[in-house]
Amino acid sequence: MPLQRRRALVSAALCALAALTPVVAQVPKGSKNWTPVEENDFVKVKGTRFFSKEGPWFMFGMNYWSCMNLAADDDAGGNYTRFITEMDQMASRGINHLRIMSSSEGAPTIQPFRMYPPLMPAPDKWDEKIFVGLDRCVAEAGKRGMRLTMSLNNEWHWSGGFAQYVSWFNKDEQIPYPPSWDPTANPPWGDYTTNSSWGFEGYANKFYSIPEAQELFKRHIAKVMFRQNTVTKKWYYNDATILAWELANEPQTDGKLIQWAEETSRYIKQNAYNQLVTTGSEGKFGEQAFKEIHSLSSIDFACAHLWVQNWGAYQMTDQSSANLNSAIEYARNFLSSIGEWSVAINKPVVLEEFGFPRDNWLNQGKNQYLYASTATTRNKDTYFDSVLNTIVTSWAEGKGFAGFQPWAYGGIWRPEPRFRNKFNEAWAGDPPHEAPGWYDLYDTDYTMEIIEKYVIFVKTLIGHGIGKK
Ligand SMILES: *[C@@H]1O[C@H](CO)[C@@H](O)[C@H](O)[C@H]1NC(C)=O
Ligand SMILES: *[C@@H]1O[C@H](CO)[C@@H](O)[C@H](O)[C@H]1NC(C)=O
Repeated sequence: MPLQRRRALVSAALCALAALTPVVAQVPKGSKNWTPVEENDFVKVKGTRFFSKEGPWFMFGMNYWSCMNLAADDDAGGNYTRFITEMDQMASRGINHLRIMSSSEGAPTIQPFRMYPPLMPAPDKWDEKIFVGLDRCVAEAGKRGMRLTMSLNNEWHWSGGFAQYVSWFNKDEQIPYPPSWDPTANPPWGDYTTNSSWGFEGYANKFYSIPEAQELFKRHIAKVMFRQNTVTKKWYYNDATILAWELANEPQTDGKLIQWAEETSRYIKQNAYNQLVTTGSEGKFGEQAFKEIHSLSSIDFACAHLWVQNWGAYQMTDQSSANLNSAIEYARNFLSSIGEWSVAINKPVVLEEFGFPRDNWLNQGKNQYLYASTATTRNKDTYFDSVLNTIVTSWAEGKGFAGFQPWAYGGIWRPEPRFRNKFNEAWAGDPPHEAPGWYDLYDTDYTMEIIEKYVIFVKTLIGHGIGKK
């Protein structure tokens, strides 16, 4: 289709959508006629877009990092009924992709703010009960037509990650944790960069320089990749449900990062040649850093994370429209740069993390938990609408983006009961070192309707022939 006409069609469709906004999402809830991910229907990358056997594939994603733990047996810290309920909820909203952890590391003593039980409690020891949770996650996702990005490591301590690998190979030494959230307290939140002179990140990044840690990491990758799913009997490396492997969550800049990313991604591609690889990086370090890591030939698509509050462009207790507008403006500029850089390297990019707090000023001065679920999501809804619109338009116009993935699904969970299981886990959408309820998307939030609106919109565009090449 000529570009001019395509543009006209896109803007016409966007206008039509704007007109429809008040009456969104009349899709019958609870229908379970999912179309499973087909055998061998591996998603491929062409230019800045994804394609499955059916044609253009857009990532309607959701962060659901605790999936393997939730899906484990209840006596292993899981919550199987909640897991199934939420998988059904997400699928009925049209979510076709989840980003989950496929790694977590333990220590000889209980560590603060960490996922428990871990998948790898000690070097070369894997907890079969948590692995079965991961199997269920993959199986139940595939059944519902959802694909997965599997994160293999973490710059941050909430799953163990780099710092735990470093500690293992330094006689289990104490990790210099950053000052963390007291999950029951209000901000300010932890600063991840300044605890010791070397800093937490500096400590975590020693990971790149410890050959034994790198060897163990490769054994972990192989362990997951060459696992036979106990539910589906499929091998992970050959399962089209697994869209992508991710090197790590948010690797920060370091002189050794690129070489490590190249070696690790090559290792993954050699073994899982039908599946894709991405980096897990945020895109916050600017053009050169973004292009350098995502240009590697063994990286198939780029990703970016956008955190307006954490990066100081939004204050969650300020209800002024100037505050909201500055967040929206910041996001637009960020997304526009990321899109341009992706077009320049000719790879798709997904906004694989972004979140926004509730209208938390409503919880202030009421002797109430600041992140209580009772606060509305008015600003969040406006922000999501703007971000999703930007991403979908970028995709339609071939300007880089090929998916979105908010942080994070809290589903039927709420902070109010202050429930903790026997491993002291809340399993909020927020990871253990952050205030539970801060960024959760609940099943009843209007924000979910906004997401669903854009799912329907993209499907409509695809029906009109947009995104075919
Ligand atoms: C900061 O790091 C030191 C070790 O360098 C550690 O003893 C301390 O507990 C850390 N602080 C927090 C809040 O984790
Ligand atoms: C499962 O999650 C629900 C919702 O958060 C909670 O009410 C219930 O107590 C949890 N059950 C277990 C076994 O953790």
